[in-house]
Amino acid sequence: MKAEVIRRKFLQFFAERGHQVVPSSPLVPAGDPTLLFTNAGMVQFKDVFLGTDQRSYKRATSAQKCMRAGGKHNDLEQVGRTARHLTFFEMLGNFSFGDYFKREAIGFAWEFLTRELGIDPAVLWVTVHESDDEAARLWVEVAGIDPARIVRLGDADNFWQMGDTGPCGPSSEIYVDRGPEHACGPECGLGFCDCDRYEEIWNLVFMQYDRDLSGRLTPLPRPSIDTGMGLERVAAFLQGVESNFDTDLLAPLVRQVGRLSGRPYDPGPAGLPFRVIADHVRALTFLLAEGVSFSNEGRGYVMRRILRRALRYGFLLGLDEPFLGELVDTVGETMGEAYPEVVRYRDAVKAALRREEERFLATLAQGMRVLDEKLAGLQPGQVLDGREAFMLHDTYGFPLDLTVDAARERGIGVDADGFAAAMEEQRQRARAGRAVLAERLPAPGPTRFVGYGSLSAGPVPVGALYIDDDPVERLEMGQGGLVWLPESPFYPEGGGQVGDKGRLVGPHGVFRVTDTRRQGEVIWHIGEMESGWLEAGEAVHAEVDAGLRAGAMRNHTATHLLHAALREVLGPEVRQAGSLVAPDRLRFDFTLDRPLTEAERLAVEDLVNRWILEDRPVQVEERAREEALAAGALAFFGEKYGERVRMVTVPGASRELCGGTHCRSTGEIGSFLLLEDVSVGSGARRLEAVTGWGALAQTREWRNRLMEAAGLLKTAPAEVPARIRALQADLREKDRRLTARAEREAAQAVEALLRQAETVQGFRVLVARLEGLGAAEDLRRYLDLVKGRVDVAVLAADLGGRAGLVAYAGPGPRAAGLRADGVIRRLAPLIEGGGGGRPDVAQAGGRRPEGLPAVLDESRRLLQEMLVSTG
Ligand code: ALA
Repeated sequence: MKAEVIRRKFLQFFAERGHQVVPSSPLVPAGDPTLLFTNAGMVQFKDVFLGTDQRSYKRATSAQKCMRAGGKHNDLEQVGRTARHLTFFEMLGNFSFGDYFKREAIGFAWEFLTRELGIDPAVLWVTVHESDDEAARLWVEVAGIDPARIVRLGDADNFWQMGDTGPCGPSSEIYVDRGPEHACGPECGLGFCDCDRYEEIWNLVFMQYDRDLSGRLTPLPRPSIDTGMGLERVAAFLQGVESNFDTDLLAPLVRQVGRLSGRPYDPGPAGLPFRVIADHVRALTFLLAEGVSFSNEGRGYVMRRILRRALRYGFLLGLDEPFLGELVDTVGETMGEAYPEVVRYRDAVKAALRREEERFLATLAQGMRVLDEKLAGLQPGQVLDGREAFMLHDTYGFPLDLTVDAARERGIGVDADGFAAAMEEQRQRARAGRAVLAERLPAPGPTRFVGYGSLSAGPVPVGALYIDDDPVERLEMGQGGLVWLPESPFYPEGGGQVGDKGRLVGPHGVFRVTDTRRQGEVIWHIGEMESGWLEAGEAVHAEVDAGLRAGAMRNHTATHLLHAALREVLGPEVRQAGSLVAPDRLRFDFTLDRPLTEAERLAVEDLVNRWILEDRPVQVEERAREEALAAGALAFFGEKYGERVRMVTVPGASRELCGGTHCRSTGEIGSFLLLEDVSVGSGARRLEAVTGWGALAQTREWRNRLMEAAGLLKTAPAEVPARIRALQADLREKDRRLTARAEREAAQAVEALLRQAETVQGFRVLVARLEGLGAAEDLRRYLDLVKGRVDVAVLAADLGGRAGLVAYAGPGPRAAGLRADGVIRRLAPLIEGGGGGRPDVAQAGGRRPEGLPAVLDESRRLLQEMLVSTG
């Protein structure tokens, strides 16, 4: 059965049983910093399980793209070594949000596997949590499964959670027995070993708790169901093949790797590189197609590791030029129907891969050289320091196993523990640098946001007060805390727009709001008691700082216009990669692998300003999400959208899904001025811009600086560039004259020097000490100047406390056996130094300038002796 058929049957089966079919969410989880990648089907429903988000349906089903690399669920190291591990895979799932529970979940799974897919019940086994008698009983009751095939396991196997925090619960897993020929040995058995005989295909999670940062479990409002069936694994079983890599989803990739490398695929251990590359290129293609880029941290860094791993395995197959791009089309052929983005962004994906491959292939050679040097300093039997190995990893992207191999060839070991320790240290540093999500605080209920139309509200009763995460009855002057209100005009940070600032004015005091954040449907006002006190139950007037909000609105509407203008000027491939909308400026990140040209910058700026001057209306409408997308509204992958969305339209210019606050018409933006255009990560640019008062302030600042420069130059502002050019020309002329004079003086000095030359055995010999030189280069310059005019020279100088020597031997003396490096070797000890060079030119440095007179005497004596004896 083809994978595509399994996917379709699954969704249909659950749709027929009252489940809403929901599309896969992106691999980058929307608005969830607790998670690196979407690692399960339930991720997009996290808030629904927690009860902070509601949907119009209570049952859902999906085919979800998932990544398990980095983070809590990480299978990267296993990929290719087992039949079943992948970094990227598809999870088929059915979900119940407080609707059905264990009995129905077990019944559905059993019916689907045995009837719909026709799997023989005799090969099915299940596991349940050791404490879950109910699930064990239901498996017998509902599915009629033999109790001997129900295995009880502990938390490690049968308790599932998405990340360190969030919804979780005991689980029950369904396994297929692939037959005794896959057994790892006599001890092989479900729950005893981890080999490929018993393969987990479906996990039923009985969602019952929410885990917080301290590990505490709080019961969910309603017990729910989350399940996940691995599409690739089920396909492998039904297609009767050895591993995921032999299914119709991955085999074409494995074959293509074979064609590129000209080597045959071996399903055994030798085929590891093929399998790794097939998995990794699929993962990379999906991530890049979503607009995630390579970088040195977070998601982009995991991508980078995946790519390097693929390249190293390519290297083992003799692929030492970029090659991953040639597999992207194969990903498109196998997955493009279900996931059109991998075809649509094919060219951008290939370009990004190529850049990143070239980059690593460049450092690969460099890292090799550094490693060779380090190993050259060690004897066989010694061990390369773990920190050095880590430096190779960190600086040159050098995998540890490569270092180990290279070292072993010379009989040298590598301190793997030291490497791991250095790595862990760096991880800790990285973790400390990442902001920890504030713990979810219990709130009396959702907050109604009334801030689209109004900047104030009240009186509204204060429902809850917190200091850190402790509930309090009262906030006193000077105390910082959080305030919950049932309704609020304060916009909580979201969609790139920063949270509002302002004041909550109560009967006895004023709370200054310095930030506003959202947690699900709850809005938290964060700040400090500025005066008096505030108690729970008191009524306050909520007042948003109108000036700051107006700035944020201008910048938000302008961000939409900028996005539209970029697409118009550069083409629709330009995609948003992030944004920040603050009261004083806006920042927009987008995909582009080069800086904008000056003409493009101007065109973008002109277009946005034209739309502003035309004072177009900004229309905001509520729509069903699918309807808005069908109407051409742009959505951003990093953003979370419900079923009902706000669609913000500037007619003839822009249409986006957006929850932010906007101007009523574009004229309110006033004006728009582009500032920076910098690169962020590979393949992405960042533009900064200002609007309204911000643009005026920026213009004034530039004007002031120009006036100051004009003042200093004593000229009119318009004349500043011409004046600077004239000054530069002046400087150059002065420089030129100075250099000419220095050269003249040097030439005179050389003439004086040459007068000291003597004739020995018919050779012109110069031995001299020079004064007033600063560096060894000066000494060498003098040597160059006298080289053509004498046969032998030894020049010495005190170079600011160090002694320097240079020597020259021309063709005649060399033919007679005199070598400059030989002379230098004899003289260097007199200045307690060392040096060397070639037979014609050599030099030395030493720490004893007091030895210089001896050097001169010894030179004369030595040259005399050598020339006489050889001549
Ligand atoms: N969320 C569960 C899992 O990923 C179903 O295994």
